[in-house]
Order: sequence, then C-alpha cells, then structure tokens
Amino acid sequence: MMRVDAKDMGADLKQVLITKEEIDARLAELAEKIDAEYEGKDLLIVGVLKGAVMVMADLARALSTPVTMDWMAVSSYGAGTQSSGVVRILKDLDTDIKGKHVLVVEDIIDSGLTLSWLISNLGSREPASLKVCTLLRKPEAAKVDIDVEWVGFDIPNEFVVGYGLDYAEKYRNLPFVGTLAPHVYGG
Ligand code: XMP
Ligand code: MG
Repeated sequence: MMRVDAKDMGADLKQVLITKEEIDARLAELAEKIDAEYEGKDLLIVGVLKGAVMVMADLARALSTPVTMDWMAVSSYGAGTQSSGVVRILKDLDTDIKGKHVLVVEDIIDSGLTLSWLISNLGSREPASLKVCTLLRKPEAAKVDIDVEWVGFDIPNEFVVGYGLDYAEKYRNLPFVGTLAPHVYGG
C-alpha cells in the first residue's frame, strides 16, 4: 500500500507528531469509553466542519453504539490565525437537539474560545446531555477552561496539520498529524 509520510511531503512538514496507527489505537480506546457512557441511549454526534471530518468518520466506525450524525460549520471572526471567540454559524445543525444526548466531536481545541461559544450555543437548545470529544488539545494555549470528557492527545503549542486539519485548506488528507515547517507559514 502507498503510504504518505513526512518525507513525501518534501520540506513542507517538519515532523510527524502522531501516526495513523497511534490515532487508530487511541480512537478505539475512546470509543470503548464512549460506548460505556451512552449504553442504551440514543446518541447524536455532531461534527464541526471541516476539521473534524476524519475523526468523525473514524470514531463513528469505532463505536458500537448506534448513532445519528449531524454537522455544524462555524467560523471565528477576526483577522489572522488567532481565534477571536466571536463565532459565526456558517452551517447550522439540520436536527433539533432538544432532549437528545449530544456529543460534539472536534479536531482540536486550541484557545478553546470556539468550543466554549459552541457549548453555550448548543446548551441553550436544551439537549438531554452535552459532552465533548476532541482528538487534539493544546493545554498551553488554553484561554478558557472547558470540561472536555474525552481527549485523544494533548500536544505542544505548535501549529499542526493533517487528519482533517489544514493550513490554507491544504494537508487535510494526510493520514497522520504533523507539524509544519516554519517557512510554509512564513516563519
Ligand atoms: P480555538 O483557538 O478557538 O481554535 O480553540 C479552534 C479552531 O482553530 C483551528 N485551529 C487549528 N487548525 N492547526 C490547524 O490546522 C492548528 O494547530 C490549529 N489550532 C486551531 C481549528 O479549526 C480549531 O477548530
Ligand atoms: Mg475546527
């Protein structure tokens, strides 16, 4: 099988941070815990576009719990790469979540501002429960405290790409998570 690795990326990628195998293994662990939490319940998993596409697809298939899936797309106002915390809904959920058990699936929590806004927005729709699973989290970048039930990996405060995550819409289809070489983003 053809595999993409850091070398194939040329000079764009600095290093592979988390391999596909590590992601698969961790998602299997998380799925077991999530299955236990929602046993006998109807679960709606909500993916945050576009970054969470890969983790949604793989986590959903690792779960034994039957789920329904919905998607939301949000964008942080403000210039640059820093999250402002002021969020605009680009695509809302198709479903009414009132009375439902909702699990938000995220690719990454950086400052936490986007997710914190999302949680209060979704919370106001009166779901039966509202929890969060994220593949990645940057503890050093946190600006707000958020209760996140399931975290795949805590990572250093560096810009990462791959497995759904992009830089200028590129690199989303890499099967692993890697760090970008500074020259790519003008460092
Ligand atoms: P905040 O700071 O609000 O950011 O937690 C959340 C959103 O910003 C994006 N983001 C990243 N995207 N590599 C990326 O490709 C990163 O290192 C990174 N950090 C934050 C992402 O969309 C996330 O949902
Ligand atoms: Mg995102």
